[in-house]
Amino acid sequence: MKITDKKGILFDLDGVLADTARYHYLAWKRLAGELGMDFSEEDNENLKGVGRKESLDIIFELNRQKRAVPCFSDEEKQRLAEKKNAYYQEFITEITPGDVLPGIPEFLRDAREKGFLLAVASASRNAGNVLNRLELSGWFDYVADAREIKRVKPDPEVFLKCAEALGFMPSECIGIEDSQAGIEAIYRAGMLSVGIHVHVVSRKPDISFESTGELKLTRILEEMEEERG
Ligand code: BG6
Ligand code: MG
Repeated sequence: MKITDKKGILFDLDGVLADTARYHYLAWKRLAGELGMDFSEEDNENLKGVGRKESLDIIFELNRQKRAVPCFSDEEKQRLAEKKNAYYQEFITEITPGDVLPGIPEFLRDAREKGFLLAVASASRNAGNVLNRLELSGWFDYVADAREIKRVKPDPEVFLKCAEALGFMPSECIGIEDSQAGIEAIYRAGMLSVGIHVHVVSRKPDISFESTGELKLTRILEEMEEERG
């Protein structure tokens, strides 16, 4: 029997289940380079969890602080976002189950054995494809379709959609994220947040782990118990 009122666990994909956050970074870096713009790993922290179009706007904004950046029309921005996606898709053709982050298969098995239902709450329109390539799809009771999500993280929409699809109240769910936007989204959804190496700007995760290798369900459950006193 579970010693918790939590019933569902909602996972971010990029940077939590798989080492794909770096492919998003490399694809944006390539595009930024072609546009004569800077884009560092630190800049990339602002893009984690954020949608494609919004990411492009952030890159422009960061560069505007250093140089003149032309005003792109919506059509041009759309074309640039598609170009980045083409670069990203080139990277993910190489993805194999070996890109699943350390500790994740064990965590999924443990969560299943403890009776949790599992969902993927990703902002990525490539999530289905990536999960198939990682051979992880079979673990999840529900995978949110980013195309149906109107408001991107830090809005809680994708997490609320997952809770609803699993048939649980938000307070019955745990969300796991590697991004600040994602932690904020979980907080706004009214769920318990678990952070993986989050670059904290404003909102701290309820429970933090340095890496997925250290992520343990028993520690999450114990910390919840301690919190309750
Ligand atoms: C998130 C990533 O999971 O998905 C972001 O953290 C990415 O970096 C976003 O921009 C949207 O992904 P995609 O694959 O639809 O461009
Ligand atoms: Mg992420």
